[in-house]
Amino acid sequence: MSLNPEITDWKNKTVWIIGASSGIGAETARLLLLKGARVALSARTVASLQTLAETAAPETTLIAPMDISQASEVEQAFNNIQAQWDTPDLTLVVAGTYQEMRAWDFDRKAASKLLDINLNGPLNVLDVLLPKLLKRAKGGLGMVASVAGYRGLPKALIYGASKAALINLTEALYFDLAPKGISVYLINPGFVDTPLTKNNKFSMPDLMTPQDAAKALVKGLEAGEFEITFPKSFVRKMKLAQLLPYKQYFAAVRRSTHL
Ligand SMILES: NC(=O)c1ccc[n+]([C@@H]2O[C@H](COP(=O)([O-])OP(=O)(O)OC[C@H]3O[C@@H](n4cnc5c(N)ncnc54)[C@H](OP(=O)(O)O)[C@@H]3O)[C@@H](O)[C@H]2O)c1
Repeated sequence: MSLNPEITDWKNKTVWIIGASSGIGAETARLLLLKGARVALSARTVASLQTLAETAAPETTLIAPMDISQASEVEQAFNNIQAQWDTPDLTLVVAGTYQEMRAWDFDRKAASKLLDINLNGPLNVLDVLLPKLLKRAKGGLGMVASVAGYRGLPKALIYGASKAALINLTEALYFDLAPKGISVYLINPGFVDTPLTKNNKFSMPDLMTPQDAAKALVKGLEAGEFEITFPKSFVRKMKLAQLLPYKQYFAAVRRSTHL
C-alpha cells in the first residue's frame, strides 16, 4: 500500500511548480504539461519561464514570478494563481540553491542567504498554502530536499543542514496532512546534471539527466510514494550509509571523497 493515493490521470490537474525556470523543476513542468496537466510556473527568471510556457498551449500555463525567499512575493504569486485557477491540486517546491562551504570558509551572510531560499522559502509557501489545503481537505504538496540531508557531508556545511531540516519538516507534515486527505511527498535526488551542480569539480556518482530525474519524480508521484528518490543505485548507498555508526560513517565518507 502506498503512503499517498496514486495519480492515474493528470488531465485538468493544476500543478504549481516553484523553481520551474531550469533543471529538475523545468523538466518536471515540461513532462506534466505533456501528460495534460495545467502548470503554474514560478521562479525569479521570467524569460526562462516564458520560454517554457511558449512550448505549451497558452491556457495550460500561468507564469507567476517570485523570489521564494520574499514572503510578500510568494503571497502575490499564490494570489495570482488562486484568482486565475483556484488552489493548485499539487504544489511542488523545487527551488533551491547550493554553495559549497567548509568550516574554514564559513560565511555567515552566505549561510543566511542559502537558508532563506532553501528553508525559509518553503516556509513562505506553507504560510500561504496550508490554510487553503486544510480548508479543502484535498490536494498535495511535494518538497524537493536532497540525499545530502540524510547525514553531515564535507562541503555541504549549510546546504546539508537546510535539506536535513526540509526532510524533517516534510515528515512532520505527513503526520498532520495525510489523515486530512492531503498528499505529502518528500523528493530526495542524488546527483542531477543541472546549473546547480555545474561547478562541482569532482566526479558525481551516477549523475542523471534532468529529463530522467523528472521522469523518476513524476513516476513516484503517480505511484503515491512518500519518499521519491533517484537515481536508485546512488540513493541505496546513501541509505546504507545512514545506518552506519559514526566511526564507520566518517571513515567511509573520507575514503570515498578523499576529504
Ligand atoms: N542537481 C542535483 O544534483 C540536486 C541533488 C539533490 C537535490 N537537488 C535539489 O533540487 C532542486 C532543483 O535543483 P536543480 O538541480 O534543478 O537546480 P537548478 O537548475 O539550479 O534549479 C533551481 C531552481 O530553483 C529556482 N530558484 C533558486 N533560487 C530561487 C529563489 N530565491 N526564488 C525562486 N526560485 C528560486 C531557480 O530559478 P531562478 O534562479 O530563476 O529563480 C531554478 O528554477 C533544488 O532544491 C536542489 O537543492 C538537486
